[in-house]
Amino acid sequence: MSADILIPPIIKIGSGAFLEVPSILRRLNGKNPLIVTDAFFVKQGLPSRLRTQILEAGLQCGIFSDTVPDPTTEVIDAGVRAFVEGGHDSLISVGGGSPIDTAKGIGMLAANGGHVRDYKVPNPIPKAGPPHIAIPTTAGTGSEVTRFTVITDTAKDEKMLIAGISLLPSAAVVDYELTMSMPPRLTADTGTDALTHAIEAYVSRKANTFTDAIALSAMKTIWTELPKAYHEPGNRQAREAMMQAATLAGIAFSNSSVALVHGMSRPIGAFFHVAHGLSNAMLLPAITAFSVDSAVDRYADCARALGITAPSDSSSQAVAKLVKAIFERNAELQVPSPKKYGIDEKRFFEAVPTMAAQALASGSPQNNPRVATASEIEELYKEVWA
Ligand SMILES: [Fe+2]
Repeated sequence: MSADILIPPIIKIGSGAFLEVPSILRRLNGKNPLIVTDAFFVKQGLPSRLRTQILEAGLQCGIFSDTVPDPTTEVIDAGVRAFVEGGHDSLISVGGGSPIDTAKGIGMLAANGGHVRDYKVPNPIPKAGPPHIAIPTTAGTGSEVTRFTVITDTAKDEKMLIAGISLLPSAAVVDYELTMSMPPRLTADTGTDALTHAIEAYVSRKANTFTDAIALSAMKTIWTELPKAYHEPGNRQAREAMMQAATLAGIAFSNSSVALVHGMSRPIGAFFHVAHGLSNAMLLPAITAFSVDSAVDRYADCARALGITAPSDSSSQAVAKLVKAIFERNAELQVPSPKKYGIDEKRFFEAVPTMAAQALASGSPQNNPRVATASEIEELYKEVWA
């Protein structure tokens, strides 16, 4: 069986990569990009620094700063209007996964018209969008190298998964300097998202030998470096390692897939506005425990990559250690349960059947080694509640 491996044509990695954006823009023939970001970054000054660099290079530039966490269909429509009205020919996203996902949505609609919901999986995206340079400021989502975007349909409280080759950014600028000021909670949540990408890419039914190598390498690094970046935010070596590993984990899952954790995580985000990485973290231990018996050898490989096994351990001993270690890691990173996070109990339990239906409809759970039924998914939501 063959696999389609797709990565952005340009990936610029390392300290100072951010300063290379104007030259990358020229390589992509962009003359008037729209910078897509959010109000927080505007206040911090990063987009205006970028805009100055671009203007000094003799190019034009606009800024759209109305992106929100968990981008909505309305924000995408507003971004498309800004893109068209400004006569822009390219996109530069700056921020966490949300601005990057927003820029993907803007590019998709600018080229194809219609409504975001028209392109929800499994629907195709007919035309490619304008060039897009993605600049992540967190070490986590991997969106800078993936062919996916997740947009919330506010009419239905649904996080829609959109997939297509044309969503792959033209360039990813992966500069860990931009992550140095991330607070510990954001470091933990985005880092756990990246760990989940690596593990799910490896155990997925769509895994292949190319993604296997990348996923194992990414999870090994994330496992050792994330606690350092969490406990010591100024640790440059940990930040650099996390940034690169998160991008590798993005390449792994974009070319394999995510699975049950992501499938179940999106509805928690859509209904209760829990940050994506945090809702993954709430689910990862229980879903790993649920899944391991269906792919003991694959999960044992993960345990060995994380360095938590003894050479004499059998695969089933390795897997038991993996489940235990993931539960312990959540405690170390102070991941709350949905209850401790403050979600209303009645609303959570009322939403369980709809969340299970949305999880299944996204297609991700079908890639899991153990394919869960709707009632098993409902039970898993109830299991992680407290
Ligand atoms: Fe994710």
